[in-house]
Amino acid sequence: SGSGLPLMVQRTLAKQVSLCHCVGKGRYGEVWRGSWYADSVAVKIFFSRDEASWRRETEIYSTVLLRHDNILAYIGSDMTSRGSCTQLWLITHFHPLGSLYEHLNRTTLTRNQMMAICLSAVNGLLHLHTEIHGTQGKPAIAHRDIKSKNILVKVNGDVCIADLGLAVTRAHVAAGVSHNPRQGTKRYMSPEMLDQSINTQCFESFLKCDIYALGLVLWETARRVAPAPDYRPPYYELAAPDPSFDDMRKIVCVDAARPEPPDDPHPTMVGMAALMRECWHQNPSVRLPALRIKKTLLKLAANDNS
Ligand code: ADE
Repeated sequence: SGSGLPLMVQRTLAKQVSLCHCVGKGRYGEVWRGSWYADSVAVKIFFSRDEASWRRETEIYSTVLLRHDNILAYIGSDMTSRGSCTQLWLITHFHPLGSLYEHLNRTTLTRNQMMAICLSAVNGLLHLHTEIHGTQGKPAIAHRDIKSKNILVKVNGDVCIADLGLAVTRAHVAAGVSHNPRQGTKRYMSPEMLDQSINTQCFESFLKCDIYALGLVLWETARRVAPAPDYRPPYYELAAPDPSFDDMRKIVCVDAARPEPPDDPHPTMVGMAALMRECWHQNPSVRLPALRIKKTLLKLAANDNS
């Protein structure tokens, strides 16, 4: 199944897509740029061991109308049997600038560019987190793997949130079907995930984990405002490239370490530093909701006369 279109149409879509070149490889599988007539599309090819992520992402995109400027736009899904092998495809819009992680590695930012990235990222997360009633409604959705590699940069300088493979709704949590052998990214895991004090029966717990991870993304982005040091991932000075769960638990829970917010006296940057601290607070119940973060960013942007 896919975008609400009949299976025949979906299958036809996948057959019409030709893969051009691989733009990313990771633990999840591969992402290719593909073409569909005149359109560029992105094709994410999942490893078959990660079928649960493909199923969840396909389910969410096809049961919820998720059309938002700051959420990666879905085109369709396809499952093809090749002998004993199952090929799992997710077809979405293509963004030639790639992920925020790649973008921050490549370039420094102006404060305005930083603000466009942070505001649009929060706006995408706010849309995911918000329950909307009515015919065009949607349930609240927790993402559960927010990080700069799962945020894509659009050519207009805004970003959109990608990878709903771990996402959950309240119904998933209530039905106890939130488990996926895949875990979120350890570097971005919240203290309550790492010390296992999180109440996994409570849907709101997962929203608070997203806010913690968003705080780290705000830090990564704000750190690249020119003149800027080279890009670094969160906890670069404390955690090895592929940290274990226990490494991260010691850093984030036992030592309660956090990234050092940029030390820039400009009021916007002082405001950003305060905001990230309110996102990654040890106590999940005092972290700001996405709407509050958006309002704070809008105020910082309005008061910034460059
Ligand atoms: N990398 C992962 N997903 C992508 C997409 N949709 N467009 C461009 N690069 C990507």
